[in-house]
Amino acid sequence: MINSTVVPLVSNLTYEAIKLGTRVYGLSSLPVVSTGRSFGYYRKIFFDNKSEHQVLSELKGQVIADIGCGLTPYVSDSMFQACRRKGISFYGIDPKLANGFKFGLFDRFKVRVVGGEGKIDPNARGLEKGIGTLADDLPFEDNSVDLVLSNYAMYAWINDDAILEGIFQEFHRVLKLGGSVKIYPTPHLNTLEPKSDSFRKVMSQFDIHQKFAGDPLLFVKYPPAFMTTFTKR
Ligand SMILES: C[S@@+](CC[C@H](N)C(=O)[O-])C[C@H]1O[C@@H](n2cnc3c(N)ncnc32)[C@H](O)[C@@H]1O
Repeated sequence: MINSTVVPLVSNLTYEAIKLGTRVYGLSSLPVVSTGRSFGYYRKIFFDNKSEHQVLSELKGQVIADIGCGLTPYVSDSMFQACRRKGISFYGIDPKLANGFKFGLFDRFKVRVVGGEGKIDPNARGLEKGIGTLADDLPFEDNSVDLVLSNYAMYAWINDDAILEGIFQEFHRVLKLGGSVKIYPTPHLNTLEPKSDSFRKVMSQFDIHQKFAGDPLLFVKYPPAFMTTFTKR
């Protein structure tokens, strides 16, 4: 009972705080902030803290896309690099990858703050799977992707319904039947309710499930909020 009231409340507060932060940031003329995460972070948020071995074994033979991946492909302890080492098709998608990042001390600092401990290498291996494009224009065939991950991009940065509608339509196109999209951090489902009929129709093609993730004691690194899974019907 406490959990069913407190968890949505905490998730919504976290989400509103993040949205406020992005709105204030958007008022500045600074470019969108991009960071990079470790595999440990992805395992905790998206894979119930399973071991590296377990996650990589489960994903063997799958096609995975990380949408709005930021600097993550360049981080040596990232999921992008762990999958590359195991021969798993893991793609990083971010418009900023179109021209390669210019690395400065600030970029390295951001990666450290959000928990990446590995080397940050502008010439990292496997960057041919880092693709500079927008989430609503993915370079995948219809029904070809098993899993989409998105950390701090959908809803947290991109919260305009019209843009999200195009993105979810694209996710639906590229996903295999039964494939899913995992997004973090998100608020409770009732605040994700689409406002237009057309967006509602797109969302009706997914089964939606939420799980509380994050760590209230480590707010900056793992803000307490829902991780939402959208599974293609
Ligand atoms: C806050 S960063 C998150 C980066 C990374 N996922 C992380 O958690 O550290 C948001 C990222 O989304 C990217 N982005 C913004 N609009 C996008 C879009 N329409 N499609 C794909 N990526 C987008 C930005 O370039 C930026 O790198």
